[in-house]
Amino acid sequence: MYLTKEEEDILSGNKGEMLSKLMKLIVKLGDSFGAEKLIDIVSAHTVLNFGLNFVNAAANVLHEIAESGLKVKVRTTADPIIDMDYSEELSVVYPMFTLHDQMMEDLDKIGIRGFTCTPYFIDNKPKFREYCAWSESSAVIYLNSVIGARSNREGGLVDIACGILGKTSYHGLLITENRKGELLFRLSPDIDKNDLFNLTSIGLIIGEIAGNQVPVIEGLENISSDYLKNLGAASAATGAVALIHVIGKTPEGKTLEQAFQNDKPKEIIDITMNDIKQVREKYSTEWNKSPNNISIGCPQLSRKEAIEVINKLEGKKISEGINFWICTNPEAKNSIINSDYNRILEDSGAHLTSFCPLLTALPRPLTTNSAKTCFYSNATYRNIDDCIRIATEGWYNE
Ligand code: F3S
Repeated sequence: MYLTKEEEDILSGNKGEMLSKLMKLIVKLGDSFGAEKLIDIVSAHTVLNFGLNFVNAAANVLHEIAESGLKVKVRTTADPIIDMDYSEELSVVYPMFTLHDQMMEDLDKIGIRGFTCTPYFIDNKPKFREYCAWSESSAVIYLNSVIGARSNREGGLVDIACGILGKTSYHGLLITENRKGELLFRLSPDIDKNDLFNLTSIGLIIGEIAGNQVPVIEGLENISSDYLKNLGAASAATGAVALIHVIGKTPEGKTLEQAFQNDKPKEIIDITMNDIKQVREKYSTEWNKSPNNISIGCPQLSRKEAIEVINKLEGKKISEGINFWICTNPEAKNSIINSDYNRILEDSGAHLTSFCPLLTALPRPLTTNSAKTCFYSNATYRNIDDCIRIATEGWYNE
């Protein structure tokens, strides 16, 4: 890989041992992808969710970086952390609690602030065509597809190295040609395209079929960015999809010609309502009894989405023995709690939280509207209205 004089200097250790290690990491990774050079980035986002087997090792690395005194050069956010407002409710199930204080201190020293998987809803929202180094798959697909900024699916800790160096390796989706649509998905007329439950199920199907190719969807020009966030997160779970063009909606998919860069799709795939029913059955774990926990929002809800859920709870009461979690980013949570909506939350008994329902390992049975949560864990997959009905009227079979 070509390196500038300054990059060579860093690599050779002239700017300190830790910086050299971080540079070595991104250069080696870049070499393995055939990258020709490094490129400046404007933003980074890290996952922090390393799985229970790796969290101790990751926390140690983070601590070493923090102790070295290095700081991020670009705006860097991280995935959700523990919501200390519910430390009592969650203390039994949250092994990361022991690491919380140390990690928070280290992240703060490095300059990583803002904890959500939807950083584009706070102040980490790059612009069209800007280069970034993000991990969190649901955030990367939103960044590439909805915003039209550019990031590969980086790895946790690698993204922190990128944030500190202000650079990543130039390959994959950073390059225009690699953003060309490859598969065309068409939706049959019997599908209600305004139904979020259908859209997240379509996301699961697209991810399964596309793998790491770039899908293009025709027939969803009216989809909202929030709904596209949920569809994309599902595709990024069942596949390695990091960019979807939606004809008439996303910035690089205004027309079929633009999405396919004047080429033809490799394949055209039609999705039917029957495919949607099958994929729901495949990814839903049917506990057939009342859940202990119900979670809405994975990815975390936008403020608007959270308020829509809260409004649906007006005049309702969550049944005893059920925790009903509405997951959103910390800023939205604070603003809603300090508004009139808090009365509905308090009256209904629902919890508004900034945690990640997956990382939190909520005790089962769990019911959720999230396709992503169902893919990664044994949860029952239902639409938001059914989740609320189960929470307030009790379990039922469809
Ligand atoms: Fe976000 Fe956690 Fe889901 S990080 S996308 S709420 S798995």
